[in-house]
Amino acid sequence: MRIVVLTGAGISAESGVPTFRDAGGLWEGHRVEDVATPEAFARDPRTVQRFYDARRHAASLAEPNPAHDALARLEDALGDDLLIVTQNVDELHERAGSSRVVHMHGRLASALCQACGARVPVPADLAGDPACPVCGERALRPDIVWFGEMPYELDRIDLALASCDLFVAIGTSGAVYPAAGFVRTATEFGASTLELNLAGSEVSPLFDEVRVGPASVVVPAWVDEVLGR
Ligand code: APR
Repeated sequence: MRIVVLTGAGISAESGVPTFRDAGGLWEGHRVEDVATPEAFARDPRTVQRFYDARRHAASLAEPNPAHDALARLEDALGDDLLIVTQNVDELHERAGSSRVVHMHGRLASALCQACGARVPVPADLAGDPACPVCGERALRPDIVWFGEMPYELDRIDLALASCDLFVAIGTSGAVYPAAGFVRTATEFGASTLELNLAGSEVSPLFDEVRVGPASVVVPAWVDEVLGR
């Protein structure tokens, strides 16, 4: 069985990484247009760099939770038949042992050089304006897909959605496109669809099945079911 899993901030919430739109979420304390757009970066790069430096430090202290662990177990069993598409910019899937992970919204651990286009491991806090290890220019920005920018690897994601048997969305509010539209694409191509979330989301009615509960409980239970345990 081929499975595509889409994850959002909710899967990392119990690891202590704040979500965006829940009470106490990141967009409650920060205006999107001040920190998460190309215009914000052009206007005030230092503020934007500091915002992502702080998030990188916080995310590096977080540990994967049983939901990340369960998806890694699922990959052990399914291999190439599982693709995780994450909107998350943390590394918790990889740290739990998953390797087939698409970071469609970029990664905190990566920097993008605006001079040469290289994507490189963040060499030091970006607010300090470190040199690009490839070209030497001081032109690194967070390798994060901001509002108004094109998410990564959409062709690969579309191919996977078109050929999967099951699409599962975990811990995402369905507020941000194109990810919020993946359930429609999967359905059009004949896949079954399942949503796992703490509460109903904006797109719950589009799924064949919705299971409500914390990711650390509902994800391992679902994985056990798939693996017949
Ligand atoms: N277990 C499962 N789901 C949870 C949990 C939990 N413990 N805690 C919260 N959730 C759910 C919420 O119910 C909500 O539906 O996670 C979802 C989080 O939604 P958002 O904060 O909107 O996060 P996300 O969907 O990942 O946001 C998408 O928006 O700003 C951008 O680029 C950012 O990738 C992000 C995108």
